[in-house]
This record gives sequence, structure tokens and C-alpha cells, in this order.
Amino acid sequence: MHTLAESGQAPREDTAVIGREVWPVTYPRGEVRASDFRVVEVEVRHPRPGEVLVRNTWTSVDAALRLRLRETAPPGYFPAFPLEEPMDGIMTVGEVVESRADGFSPGDMVWHALGWRDYAVVEAGKQALGGVGTLTKLDVDVAPPQAHLGALGANGLTAYAGLFHAAGLRDGDVVWVSAAAGAVGSLAAQMAKIRGHRVIGSAGSDEKVRYLLEELGLDGAFNYKRGPLPDLLREAAPDGIDVYFDNVGGDHLEAALGALRRSGRVAICGMISEYAAKEPPHGPGNLMLAVTKGLTIRGFRASGHTHLLPEMRRQVGAWVREGRLHCRETIVDGLPQAPLALAGLLRGDNTGKTLVRIDGGTHRESTVD
Ligand SMILES: NC(=O)c1ccc[n+]([C@@H]2O[C@H](COP(=O)([O-])OP(=O)(O)OC[C@H]3O[C@@H](n4cnc5c(N)ncnc54)[C@H](OP(=O)(O)O)[C@@H]3O)[C@@H](O)[C@H]2O)c1
Repeated sequence: MHTLAESGQAPREDTAVIGREVWPVTYPRGEVRASDFRVVEVEVRHPRPGEVLVRNTWTSVDAALRLRLRETAPPGYFPAFPLEEPMDGIMTVGEVVESRADGFSPGDMVWHALGWRDYAVVEAGKQALGGVGTLTKLDVDVAPPQAHLGALGANGLTAYAGLFHAAGLRDGDVVWVSAAAGAVGSLAAQMAKIRGHRVIGSAGSDEKVRYLLEELGLDGAFNYKRGPLPDLLREAAPDGIDVYFDNVGGDHLEAALGALRRSGRVAICGMISEYAAKEPPHGPGNLMLAVTKGLTIRGFRASGHTHLLPEMRRQVGAWVREGRLHCRETIVDGLPQAPLALAGLLRGDNTGKTLVRIDGGTHRESTVD
């Protein structure tokens, strides 16, 4: 860790706490490694009018971070993370320790988008992550704070918007969800199941397949590493599918186009198989099937559906309380381990939502009233 003592700087007068931040120092080539990042000690100031100081307790680890850990992010997406700077735009939850913003008090649990650090000064009302990450007070009676990073947060919104809006789920649809044991995938698969659909899930290990069948109660599941995808999919859904919830892209999307029935729909949520590609990937070789079968292929982003957040939180909160929706977590302890948690997620080591549990520093009381 790079400490303030090493920098030889005298502490600033308005410093509230010495915090730690994880900064990228190089863009990963292929796999993400711990050496692509460093942990830096920083002085975190007291909040000014309209701001709060938050002690972050949990921070999110997301597949899509890989898209921003490169020289340029895909056009239209959130920008690439600059090197040697804090990574702004990662969901996190924490406790307000000082507030100079109306509507927020010390002790409030909140979410915001200044993750991968243990303390953050956050401006109330300032839009972050397209509105998904704007400072928001949490109802922790519904579920523990970290659930607001998963089922009750951006992941829940992604699954909800993708299934019910992008894919326009209809009665009787047979649904395939890829990366179904991951954060978004496990929610999408369960939501479709709760709504009465026949749901097939795919994942990258036999253990995950067992999780999908035995814990999530899916109707079919397969390990995509165990054979040609079109064969595995045909075996799981002999009469074809109506909806494909795509988290993977590449060969998975191609297999889905082959299996979709007439007027089938694809909700493109993400394409994790292509995020670390060195060369621009080719599109599916069988795209003509979209014409012959009259398919609808629709990409979407959670940030385009923030108006659904209250409805999603109400609905998903009820499913969680009733025990109908399960939230498995892969927890990695300690802020400095965040890069390794991301590397593990991209390799498929995770099941459910990947989270880093942060243990904070020591906060000095404010001298500002
Ligand atoms: N559109 C949106 O607004 C939005 C928002 C959030 C996330 N997303 C997208 O949703 C997807 C899931 O993200 P997440 O954060 O929830 O991650 P996650 O599913 O918890 O973790 C990623 C999973 O992808 C699987 N995977 C990795 N490489 C793969 C490959 N080459 N082929 C097949 N599977 C592979 C791994 O599981 P296996 O063991 O099964 O391989 C891994 O567990 C990503 O595509 C992400 O970009 C989109």
C-alpha cells in the first residue's frame, strides 16, 4: 500500500479520516491481476453543504468493470477508468458518518457509486451511473445492506428490466438464461421461474448446475463446458426456446439464435465472453435466422430503466421476504482484495453476487457545524 507518510505531505486541516482507495495502474492484458492495481492512502475531507461523508461497508464487484479497465470503453458506455485515479462509478453501500445534506443523517445506510474505497464524500442529488448510483437511503429492514447491491439494487433492476421490458416476457415462454449462476443471471432465472415460466440455465461448472437445479429450482440446466452448446441446449429444451436472456454473447448468442422459435426474443444484457478479447469479436454466423424466424433482438441497460426502481424494489423485496427469491453471495474480505475478487468473477469462481466486505479506518469528528 502507498501510505501518506511515504508521500511526506502534512495532513490537510479539513481531513476527516485517512482512507484507502483502489486505483488501476495499468489496463489488464487478458486476465485481471492484482498488479494492475494499487491501494492508496488518501485524506478524505469533511463534507461541505449538500454532501455527506460515508463509511463504505460493502462494495460491488461487477463483470462490466472489465469494460472500463481498458484504454477506451465501448462507445456510448460509461467511460474507461483513468489510470492512477480512484474508480468513480462502482456501486457501494455504507453508513453516513457526517451529513451536511438535507434528508441524510449520521447512521443512515445509503448506496452510492463511489466504491472500491473505504470512505467517500458524496454529493446528494448528483446523478451517478446514469441515475442507478445516485445517493439513496436504504430500507435495511427489508434486507441487509449488501442485498441492495444485488437483488434490491442495480442487479435486480437489470434482471427485471431485461426480462419484463426488453424481452417482453409472455405467458408460456420458455426462457434460457446464460451465466445463470452469477449475480444478474441468478436473479433473471428466478424471476422468470416465479412468474411461472419454464426456465433453462447454463453455467460453467457441474457444481453451479446443481445450484441451479436444486437451490433455484430451474427446470433444466447444463454446464456449457461439457459439449457443443447447440447440443446441450437442444437436450435441455427439445422444443426450442422463446426468450434468451444473454449475459455471455459469442457462441451462446449463436446457439440461442439456432434454438429460438418463431417470434422469439433476445434481451442482450451483456457479452462477458468478449470483454477481454484482444481482437474485435465477430458477430453470430447465423444472424440470418433473425430474419427467417422473425426474431426481436434488443439490447438494454439498467440505467435506461431507473423509473422501474421503486416497482422492482417493492416486488423483489416481497419475493425476498416470502423466501421465494434466493440471494447467494460470494464474499471476499478486505478492500485490498477487490481486484482479486474481480479476477475471480471473470474466471467464474463466483456464485451469486460478488461482494467485497470492507473494514474501515478511523474517522475524526467534524469540526465544521
Ligand atoms: N445491461 C446492464 O445494464 C447490465 C448490468 C449489470 C450487468 N450486466 C451484464 O450481466 C452479465 C453478468 O454480470 P454480473 O456482474 O452479474 O457477473 P456474474 O454473472 O456474477 O459473473 C460473471 C459470470 O460470467 C461467467 N463467464 C465468464 N466468462 C464466460 C465465458 N467466456 N462464457 C460463459 N460464461 C462466462 C462466469 O460464470 P461461469 O462459471 O458460468 O462461466 C461468471 O461467474 C455481464 O455480461 C454484465 O456485463 C449488464
